[in-house]
Amino acid sequence: QTIYRKDYTAPSYLVDAVELGFDLDPARTVVANRLTLRRNDAAGTGGARREIELYGEELQLVAIRLNGKALGARDYAIDGALLRIPCDAQDVVLEIETICVPETNTTLSGLYVSNGNFYTQCEAEGFRRITYFPDRPDVMATYTVMLRADKRQFPVLLSNGNLIEEGDLPDGRHYALWEDPFKKPSYLFALVAASLVCQEETFPLQDGRRALLQVWVEEGNLDKTDYAMQSLKRSIRWDEERWNLELDLDRFMIVAVGDFNMGAMENKGLNIFNTKYVLANPRVATDVDFQGIEAVVGHEYFHNWTGNRVTCRDWFQLSLKEGLTVFRDQEFSADMIGTASGRAVTRIDQVRTLRQAQFPEDAGPMAHPVRPDSFVEINNFYTVTVYEKGAEVVRMYQTLLGRDGFRKGMDLYFARHDEQAVTCDDFRAAMADAGGRDLSQFERWYSQAGTPVVQAETHYDAERQTYTLRLVQSCPATPGQAGKLPFHIPVAVGLLGADGRDLPLTLDGVDLGTTAVLELVEADQSFVFGGVREQPTPSILRDFSAPVILKYGYSDAELVLLFSHDSDPVNRWEAGQRLAMGRLLKLAEDAAAGRSLDLDDVFVDAMRKMLVDASLDPAFREQALLLPSETMIADQMDVVDPMAIHMARQFVRADIGARLRSELRAQYDASQTPGEYSPDAESIGRRALKNLCLAYLCAAPDEAAIALARRQFDEAGNMTDRVAALGALVHARASSAVADAAAHADDALRRFYDEFQGEALVVDKWFAMQASAPTTDVAAVRALMTHPAFTLRNPNRARSLVSTFCGANPVGFHAPDGSGYAFWAESVIALDALNPQVASRLARAMDRWRRYAPALQKHMKKALQQVAGRATLSNDVREVVGKALA
Ligand code: ARG
Ligand code: ZN
Repeated sequence: QTIYRKDYTAPSYLVDAVELGFDLDPARTVVANRLTLRRNDAAGTGGARREIELYGEELQLVAIRLNGKALGARDYAIDGALLRIPCDAQDVVLEIETICVPETNTTLSGLYVSNGNFYTQCEAEGFRRITYFPDRPDVMATYTVMLRADKRQFPVLLSNGNLIEEGDLPDGRHYALWEDPFKKPSYLFALVAASLVCQEETFPLQDGRRALLQVWVEEGNLDKTDYAMQSLKRSIRWDEERWNLELDLDRFMIVAVGDFNMGAMENKGLNIFNTKYVLANPRVATDVDFQGIEAVVGHEYFHNWTGNRVTCRDWFQLSLKEGLTVFRDQEFSADMIGTASGRAVTRIDQVRTLRQAQFPEDAGPMAHPVRPDSFVEINNFYTVTVYEKGAEVVRMYQTLLGRDGFRKGMDLYFARHDEQAVTCDDFRAAMADAGGRDLSQFERWYSQAGTPVVQAETHYDAERQTYTLRLVQSCPATPGQAGKLPFHIPVAVGLLGADGRDLPLTLDGVDLGTTAVLELVEADQSFVFGGVREQPTPSILRDFSAPVILKYGYSDAELVLLFSHDSDPVNRWEAGQRLAMGRLLKLAEDAAAGRSLDLDDVFVDAMRKMLVDASLDPAFREQALLLPSETMIADQMDVVDPMAIHMARQFVRADIGARLRSELRAQYDASQTPGEYSPDAESIGRRALKNLCLAYLCAAPDEAAIALARRQFDEAGNMTDRVAALGALVHARASSAVADAAAHADDALRRFYDEFQGEALVVDKWFAMQASAPTTDVAAVRALMTHPAFTLRNPNRARSLVSTFCGANPVGFHAPDGSGYAFWAESVIALDALNPQVASRLARAMDRWRRYAPALQKHMKKALQQVAGRATLSNDVREVVGKALA
C-alpha cells in the first residue's frame, strides 16, 4: 500500500505529555502508557466523526482507559496497525497497557534484546512496536519514563533526558525514573537496560554550564571508547563555535550495541550506536574506522538541533534533517582537518560516494526525489539520495548565498522553527528570506529525481578577447517523472592559461576573481567572459559545485594541464579521473572483444608525475592515483560487462604497478609513519599513499612485492597497515608470477583470524576481505557461511559476507551461470524472515539489472521473480523487488 505526500493531514489529536512505565522482561515486557491528549482544532475531519488514531504492531493489548473509563472492544476499531477511538472531547487522558516480547524481536526495530541486554530503535516507525501511540513525527510531547528490571542482570537503566530518581524494589529488581524536558516526536524515544560500563567526564559548555558525557559499552571494551569521547567533545565545541548551537541537556549519553540495523540513532540525549561507529583503538580499527567514528558521532550530535529541536512534519521531509545533518557532519570533518588541501580530500571523498552510490540510484528503478512523493515502506528511503544528495542540495544554498548568507539562513530557520515539525519548504523559505533571494526554482532539487546533465561548449574569440561558455542542461526521465524542468545550478568556473595559472575573470564588466559562481537557470545559457588574452582551458564545476554530470569534450592535453596545475584540487583530481575513465572504457571494450590490452605513455607519465610530486599532500596524491571503481565504470556503459570491466581495471593497475615499480617502491619507503600510531590527517594520508603503493605493487606481483606485503603484515603496529597488507596478499592470491601466492594469502588469513577472533568488528573485516576478493565465488561464500563465527542474525556479520559479496565483488556475483543471483535470492528470502530492513538493503544489489548483457539479465530476472513470488514477503523487500521488475 502506497503512501503519498499529497495526502498529508494534520493529526486529529496532539499529545502534550507521555508517561511510560516499563516492567522489563525479555520474554514478556509490560508497558503502561499514560497519554495526555488535546484536540487539534486546526485539523479538519472532512465531515467525518473525529477519532483518536493510534498505531501499534506486534503488541498484545491488555487494557485501554479513556478519561478513567475502561474501553471495550466496541469502543474502538483495530485495522492492521491502526487503532481508532471515536472521540471528540477537548482534553483526553488515555491509559494503555500492552505486552511485547523483546527476545524474539529479530527486526531490531522497537524494543529488542542484543547479547542479553535491552535496546530500542524507534526511527522511523519502531515506537508503535513498544506501545500504541500516534506514531508520527508531527506529534511532539514531553516524556517521563519509569524503568523497572532485574538489578543483577540489568544494572544500568537509561532513557532520554535527566535522571530524576533511582532505587531498589523487592525481588532483586530496581528502578530508574527519567524525564526529558524537551518536546519530542516518538521516533526519538529510547531506553537501554543492560549490563554495561562507561567512560565519562564532565565537559564545560560555552555558557558556563558543565555537561556529563558518557560512552557506554559492554565490559571488555573500555579500551576502545576514547576516540568516540574525543569526537563527542569536538562535536559539542564545533557546534558552539560554527553555528552558536549549544547542548541543551545536562547529560549526553552514547551507547554502543553490536546488533544494529544502521549506523547510529540520534535519540534525545541517548544516542544509540552500532559498535562499528564507537569502538576503536589502533590494534583493531583502521584509519577509515576512526574517521567514520568522528563523522557519525558528530552527525548524531548535530541532529540534536537539526532533527530534534527542529524536526520533520512527515517522513517525506526526511532530508530536511538528514541532508542538513550530513552537510553539517561533512563540514565538521573538514574543519577538524583544517588545511585547504585536507578539506579538498574530504570533498573528493564525498564526490566519490555520490558517483559510486547516488548517481546509480538516481538512474535506477528506486530513483526518487530528495523529498519523495510516495513510498510503501519508509525504511527503504534512508537512501544516498535523501542523505548525500540532500547534503549537496544544502551545500548549494551555501554556494549561492555565501558562507555568511547561509549562516543567516540557519539562524532564521532556528528562530522561526525551534520545537516545531516542519518541511523542506520551510527551510528553503528561511534561506530565501535571510538572503533576500528568490529560490523558487531551486525547489526542483527537492521535487525532481535524476542526475542533471550539464553539457558545456566553449568558444574563444581571439580578436575580441572573449571566451564564451555555453551550458545546456537536461535531466533523464525517472520512474513516474517523464519530463523535467530546468534546475537552478551553481556552476563554479575558472580559466587556466597555457602556463596552468588562473586567468582573472570578468563577466559583464564585473571582476570576479579567479573562480566565478555562474547561475545556470535556463535550459540553454551562455556566459561571455571579457578580456581573455589567450585561449584558456576551462575548469568547470570547481569543488563539485552541484551534483550533476558535466560533459565537455576535453582533449588529453587539456586534462593533463588541469591534472598538473588546476588551483582547484577537486577539479585537479577530476581531470585525472577523466583521463583514467577514457582509458578504462576503451580497455573494457578491448577486453570484451578479446583484443590485446595496452596503456599509453601519456597516462602513465601523468600518474608518475603525480606519484612523485612531493610538494603535494600524500592524502591528495592517494586520491589522484586511485582509479574509478568498477561500479563507476559500469555506470558509464550502456551494456555492462562486469568481467570486461574487471579485466580492464586490473590491467591498468598491474601495468602501473609494473611500469612505476621503482617509483612506487620509493614512495612506499618515503611515506612511512614511524612512532606511535595517530589518526591525524597527515598520518592518515601518508598511510593511505603508502598502502596504495603496496596495492599497485601487488597488482603486478613479483616475489619482492609479496615479500613486502608479508613483512608489513607481520610487523604492522596498527590495523590500517595490517589489513592493507592482508588485502594485498588476498588480492594477489591467484597470481601465477609468484610461487605459493595462494599459500601466502591463506596463511595470512588464518593468522589474522587466530589473533582477532575475539574482536567482532575485526572478524567482520575478515569476512568482508574474502567476500570482496575476485577469486571468491559463490561456493567459497557458502563455505564461509558454515564458519562457526558466521550468523545471519547479526546485521554487521550478514553484511560483511553476504552483502559484500553481492555488492562489492562484481566478478563473483555476476558469474555467467547465474549462481550469484540464485544465492542472492536465497539470502534475501532467509534474511527477510529475520530482519526486513537488512534484507531490503541486500535486495537493492539487483537494482540495475536491466543494464547487463541479455544472458545475465535472464538469470537476474529469474532471481528477482523468485523473490517477488514469495507469499510472505515484508513490505520492505516487496517494494524493492517490485520496483526493480516494474
Ligand atoms: N536517523 C538516523 C541517522 O541518520 C538513521 C536511523 C534510520 N533507521 C531506520 N531504521 N531507518 O543518524
Ligand atoms: Zn542522520
